Amino acid sequence: MSRQSIPTVSPLRPGARLTRTGDSTAAAANDSPLRSACARLRWPLPALLTWATAWGLFTTLQQLGVATAAAMAAALLLGGTAGLGTGLAGHSRWRGWIVAVGFPLSWGLHALLHGLAVPAAGLGSTVAAGGVLGELPAWAWLVPLALFLLAYPLRAWHDAPFFPTPSDALEGLADIAPLPARARILDAGCGLGHGLQALRRAYPSAQLQGVEWSWPLRWLASLRCRWAHIRRGDMWAQSWSGHDMVYLFQRPESMAHAAAKARQEMRPGSWLVSLEFKAPGLRLHAVLQREDARPVWVYAIGPAPRRG
Ligand SMILES: C[S@@+](CC[C@H](N)C(=O)[O-])C[C@H]1O[C@@H](n2cnc3c(N)ncnc32)[C@H](O)[C@@H]1O
Repeated sequence: MSRQSIPTVSPLRPGARLTRTGDSTAAAANDSPLRSACARLRWPLPALLTWATAWGLFTTLQQLGVATAAAMAAALLLGGTAGLGTGLAGHSRWRGWIVAVGFPLSWGLHALLHGLAVPAAGLGSTVAAGGVLGELPAWAWLVPLALFLLAYPLRAWHDAPFFPTPSDALEGLADIAPLPARARILDAGCGLGHGLQALRRAYPSAQLQGVEWSWPLRWLASLRCRWAHIRRGDMWAQSWSGHDMVYLFQRPESMAHAAAKARQEMRPGSWLVSLEFKAPGLRLHAVLQREDARPVWVYAIGPAPRRG
């Protein structure tokens, strides 16, 4: 489907029951105790544990005289199994991949910067590779980590990582969730402002606001979206009552909380819109589903209008 084509809209029949199929709660109910225990570890602990264990395994095997290629294979297998095969990363595919690729990525980066004995063509043989930085003190690794944590504090990880809304993701939204001119729209967890830009395309005359926990992201979003009012803060601490629409692109795990907050604070007639993840228990008005794109779940706040 091209960008210009009309998106498929699937209005929910009035009175139709919302199911929670596919959300983390429903999935957790079918899990083994090991999987559920793993899924309860707070992110990013599973990733950090796996990466540390993979590095520990790799260096231990090398110290025991195991060939680099075999040690690599063992560490890769450990990371891959932990990330994609055990449920350690919860029910999120992208978290699974982060867990799985952490070791090979950091190994490659380390080899690039410092030089490492890398596997040569034949299993068991190695060649020395010179690093671009030579020897740096071990603590030097803490600098990029500290910068990363500054830009992206752990608190924000719990609700959502940084993933931007595609620019055309909300095409057609205004047709199914009409708003008056100057309507107030909040992007809760606005990141770098991509969601705000998509909202602006859909509602050019709206008053757009964003709230973002990470201060560098908030600052960059303000630069990118000068027409929006963006502040740094916790989206859960701010009331959603004054908004005609709240837009979210968060995590499946956050959606029950978001739905409860919307039910409690948003006034009847307003909208909660969520990219990709369902908000359980709210009245689903429509799903904007473009081909090869994430679904946009559109919830109407308040009771359904009486018919007849
Ligand atoms: C998936 S990104 C979406 C960014 C933007 N809404 C978009 O669609 O392009 C989620 C953002 O929510 C932010 N976030 C997560 N938890 C938050 C919280 N409690 N308060 C404010 N922002 C939060 C993250 O830092 C991240 O930038």
